[in-house]
Amino acid sequence: MSDKKRDISFNHSQLVGRELDYMREAIDAEHISGEGPFAHRCADLLRRELGVGAAVVTSSCTAALEMTALLLEANPGDEVILPAYTFVSTANAFVLRGLRPVFADVREDTLNIDETRLAELVNERTRAIVVVHYSGVGCEMDRISELARSRGVELIEDNAHGLFGSYRDRPLGSFGRWATLSFHETKNITCGEGGALLLDREDDLRRAEILRDKGTNRQALFRGEVDKYTWVDLGSSYSLSDLLAAYLYAQLEQRESITRKRRAIWETYDAAFRGELEACGVRLPYVPPHCVQPYHMYWMRLPDGATRLRFIEAMKRRGIHCVTHYQPLNLSAMGRRLGADRPCPVTEAAADTLVRLPFYNELARADQERVIEETLSFFAV
Ligand SMILES: Cc1ncc(COP(=O)(O)O)c(C=O)c1O
Repeated sequence: MSDKKRDISFNHSQLVGRELDYMREAIDAEHISGEGPFAHRCADLLRRELGVGAAVVTSSCTAALEMTALLLEANPGDEVILPAYTFVSTANAFVLRGLRPVFADVREDTLNIDETRLAELVNERTRAIVVVHYSGVGCEMDRISELARSRGVELIEDNAHGLFGSYRDRPLGSFGRWATLSFHETKNITCGEGGALLLDREDDLRRAEILRDKGTNRQALFRGEVDKYTWVDLGSSYSLSDLLAAYLYAQLEQRESITRKRRAIWETYDAAFRGELEACGVRLPYVPPHCVQPYHMYWMRLPDGATRLRFIEAMKRRGIHCVTHYQPLNLSAMGRRLGADRPCPVTEAAADTLVRLPFYNELARADQERVIEETLSFFAV
């Protein structure tokens, strides 16, 4: 394969519909700050499609996670259980509020939090379990929901990857008391940087509006409930600019075509690799039959860390950018400082060996064939 060929990046963000028309509309309407008309349209669409009580559009998934930690009203020393194999924000949001993260290991097949090992981590200080639907494949929500209910702890879904995925026909993001979404550039549906908080209860919605609005009751002023607004609670600046909400709404409108395209890409990778690469000791994604994924990524776990390094370098020499994913939070400098002392062997092995292949809506067929051909030739298949 010639090195002169065009590079194939890991991710690529492209317009999918009326993004520019809607951004122009926001500018013409002279509302480009937060809580504008497009933010409301996005929130309504998410609420309807996901069957939740309300959606609050935010500046990132990190912001939405921080809002869940504020809503939790924990005391210093309280604990939150979360997977060791996740992005730092899943932990940071709670640590900022003085909670201690307790890292759970993940399952070998889905890399989701291991529901069979959760009960032993719950104690009288546990306030919440946070699940991450890794790559948009649902965690075992029947068992996890039942554990949270029976032990009286809150259930939070970090659904950064899984918008429009489902578990036993129920949308991901509709199981927890709170759930979060990400619209970062790397996600299926994006506005560059953005997120959302999903919730059901009216009292949570009222408080979330205050937390998002710098701890003020400004929304109550807009509803005519008070004649001036003031500082009433903790809070920060978590709103999404309506310029970005306009972009996001155009993407949300195209959700079906986006999922269709990504499904074709995922299935093409899978058909080429399943069997062939498994025979070479490569693990491929597992999607339980009761889960529908939104086709967020295609990952492979190579036999060991050295092979992964050689693979990434070999692909890079051919102009193909493949990337690793999370590092184990239990082994991180911050995790250790916070007292993480339990090994998470599956997380640690996955962090060493997992690689993600180029994956984006407009990945051209010829480019994908090049990725497949080079991957198979690396393994001499
Ligand atoms: C599981 C998970 N949670 C949270 C985030 C943070 O998302 P954002 O960049 O929207 O803050 C990410 C980022 O990719 C993630 O993978």
